[in-house]
Amino acid sequence: MAKRSNGDTADGGSVEEQTQQFYDSEGWVADDQGVIGEDKYFRDFAEKRAEYWAKVEAKPAALLKGIGGTVLFAGPGDLPASHIHAAGQFDKAICADISKRSIEICKGKLGDKSEYHQTSLLDLPLEDGSVDATLCTHVIYHIDKQHQQQAVNELIRVTRPGGRVVIVCCNPNAPLMAIQLFLKFLRVNKLLGKQKLYTYYQPLSWWRQFSANNVVEFVPHQAMSSNQAKALLPARFLRRAFYDWATKFEDANPNLAVKLWPYVTIKIDRVT
Ligand SMILES: C[S@@+](CC[C@H](N)C(=O)[O-])C[C@H]1O[C@@H](n2cnc3c(N)ncnc32)[C@H](O)[C@@H]1O
Repeated sequence: MAKRSNGDTADGGSVEEQTQQFYDSEGWVADDQGVIGEDKYFRDFAEKRAEYWAKVEAKPAALLKGIGGTVLFAGPGDLPASHIHAAGQFDKAICADISKRSIEICKGKLGDKSEYHQTSLLDLPLEDGSVDATLCTHVIYHIDKQHQQQAVNELIRVTRPGGRVVIVCCNPNAPLMAIQLFLKFLRVNKLLGKQKLYTYYQPLSWWRQFSANNVVEFVPHQAMSSNQAKALLPARFLRRAFYDWATKFEDANPNLAVKLWPYVTIKIDRVT
């Protein structure tokens, strides 16, 4: 296995430590009301149960359809429905997350079906080409920007030639993200949700660097985050109308939706 730096520079180390600390003390821990931090800060909204959310959660598994064997869940967190759907298609799963609490939750959900590693994605304890597919949702943008390329290369390295890496990320040039980042620049981003974690979003053009030995494709993922929906569409009926429109728009115009939606999936097919 090629030797890799584990991101232990001052910056890389501190981002990983901050992320691990957040998820082990708050993100994956329930409060007095039984609500975990991730839901409270980032993904708690009524539409979760609605048709649109179910569709979003089913997308990663659909992109992995037809691939069997072993799937790597890179940064699975509390193993949301998207991962549970995908796990059903594989004989074996491997869960790799920097958070101890995440690994405990994953063990509770997948038991003997999975192998578990509390580890950084920058230095996975896995052999080259040892998994058939990799799923990594909402993780890369929490890694220090200087180490994001290394993390993606690591996911590609452990996935076999002919296998697929599916990554859900944000497009910082999508209109909603651009507004959010501008508000962040103006230091009024609290309007759009509490910033508990380091985030850095790479533009779509950045992902093209991985196309030298792979086929890289973009797929629309989600039209609005829960925090954006809460801030911009305060009435529930408005959110429902927006999601209905977004579903139809995305089906009819997938390439445009890739550019417009804040959340995008990057599908990387490893060729060699
Ligand atoms: C926003 S949560 C996403 C969880 C899940 N994938 C989902 O879509 O709901 C980010 C997860 O990535 C993990 N993570 C962040 N940086 C990591 C790193 N450098 N190495 C391994 N795991 C990391 C965190 O511990 C956390 O569990």
